[in-house]
Amino acid sequence: MSIDPEFARDVREGLLRTPRELPPRYFYDALGSQLFEAICRLPWYRVTRGEQLLLERHGAAMLDGLAGSAAAPLGVAELGCGSGQKLATLLRAASAPVGGVTLIDISAAALAMATDHLSQLGPWPVHTQEASYDEGLARLATSRPVSDGPLLVLFLGSNIGNFHPSEGRALLGRIRRTLRPGDALLLGTDLVKPERNLLLAYDDPLQVTAAFNRNLLRRIDEELGGTFELDGFSHRAIWNAAESRVEMHLVSLRRQRVTVAACGLDLTFEAGETIWTESSYKYDPAAVVADGLAAGFGTGTGAGVDAAPGGVRQWIEPDSAFALTRFLVTP
Ligand code: AVJ
Repeated sequence: MSIDPEFARDVREGLLRTPRELPPRYFYDALGSQLFEAICRLPWYRVTRGEQLLLERHGAAMLDGLAGSAAAPLGVAELGCGSGQKLATLLRAASAPVGGVTLIDISAAALAMATDHLSQLGPWPVHTQEASYDEGLARLATSRPVSDGPLLVLFLGSNIGNFHPSEGRALLGRIRRTLRPGDALLLGTDLVKPERNLLLAYDDPLQVTAAFNRNLLRRIDEELGGTFELDGFSHRAIWNAAESRVEMHLVSLRRQRVTVAACGLDLTFEAGETIWTESSYKYDPAAVVADGLAAGFGTGTGAGVDAAPGGVRQWIEPDSAFALTRFLVTP
């Protein structure tokens, strides 16, 4: 397999930091994407099921006022679509015509799953972009799924939770600036909930999440010529209440040497030394609304929509404590 220079650079930089860290975007190789799909089915990880319920129950309302016209129907684009299952649920609820779908994901495996789902479902053309969020947004700015119709961007699954709040707000601003009046954003955010639920979600009794976390080391071994021994690292999840985030780490179980050929790395891990692999921020629903308004969404009145002040609507699934928030771009 050819070496991805960006992956090599990010691994090098991250592993030389104190504390060591690796960016969560690299979880999603083919196996990692499948492990994530398995996580979504775990009874302890309720993010996906909570969001799915909201989409089933309120999907039609989420599309209210975004109809477009027969000549210029609604276009839909999803940042980080994964398997595409949630988008499929939303489109099943759509009564108005949808004229095109753009799927954006960094994982080729995810895009293959999502393309299958979405093209079976309706007559709309399905475009795919194997791209990061920012690359995807840049391309959306110039080639929208439907050039003349309104655009609904989906950023679901609490994918935004991987970003530090200030970076998350900046990303919302970049999404807003990619859109124009009449467009909308549907944002999925996992909410703060009891610590025991959060820890079970990120350190599940079947250890699927542990496998997902350690798979990152396997990927580095395979793609970058690393010598990580997978039984030399254990999975740890902690709730950092002060920062409102679940953190995942890999903990070195012994003093060990690891080299990564493609990164020119020769490292010694002490026993107990950690690699920080993910943060999953958890939100307060009112703060999500405030963040969207601060990013420039929904000021003014949403044309033709029975909107709350600022044109924002929010749906909350109480059992999983998950929120979907819809922001409009108003003139
Ligand atoms: C896909 C980033 C939303 O943070 O909950 C699931 C990834 N990590 N279990 C999350 C994940 C561990 C997930 N996101």
